[in-house]
Amino acid sequence: MKLILCKNYDEMSEKAAAEIACLVKKAPDCTLGLATGSTPVGTYKRLTNMYKSGELDFSGVKTFNLDEYYPISPENSQSYDFFMKKNLFDHINIKKENVNIPKGSANDPERECQRYEELVRSSDPVDIQILGIGVNGHIGFNEPGEYLHASTHVTELTESTISANARFFESEDEVPKKAITMGIGTILRAKKIILLASGRAKHAAISALLDDRITTDIPATILKTHGNVILICDEEAYYG
Ligand code: PGA
Repeated sequence: MKLILCKNYDEMSEKAAAEIACLVKKAPDCTLGLATGSTPVGTYKRLTNMYKSGELDFSGVKTFNLDEYYPISPENSQSYDFFMKKNLFDHINIKKENVNIPKGSANDPERECQRYEELVRSSDPVDIQILGIGVNGHIGFNEPGEYLHASTHVTELTESTISANARFFESEDEVPKKAITMGIGTILRAKKIILLASGRAKHAAISALLDDRITTDIPATILKTHGNVILICDEEAYYG
């Protein structure tokens, strides 16, 4: 795993945006794997600015998001569909038909998981997958547990994730208890993975990522089996 240690959140965002920009310029029809949460917001802001200044063209880019709450309507301002529009898609020239996010409003979630998994697997592999990391070490919504899932699936959110995400909602009670998420196998299919981490709360998870152990108790440690991962993290996440 390659480490890029940054002074702070801004530098982390700068480096991540530069990696993506480099790919989009080189391969205008590339596929990006995208994440939500507060960590990638600065990266998306920079990509938006690069688009606005004429430096980047997203018209040929295809995207797959990692996850979505379930059940949730795309109009709900807490949905990841809404988040992606607000933080990136509404500001760049990406084509609507090239954007893929699991449908939190699907009537049959199991079927939606199957549809999404097949869509990812039948498309060109993701060129760069952006990941955040949960305080509990989750990636996507692959939560710690006795075992991990290989494919897109419905998952019950852990107490840790519900309380970490409560800051986006009026109260903890409003945080959905379930989500649809790419599985570990779906994520590992990406050619390159960029994991972003900022802030002291992520230190324990980042430390586990940097030792030699792989454990389902800290799902991100499975990334050690992938040959092309870049960890871009700030000093607070790295040193605690
Ligand atoms: P955050 O979430 O970026 O809001 O910290 C990361 C995650 O839960 O994967």
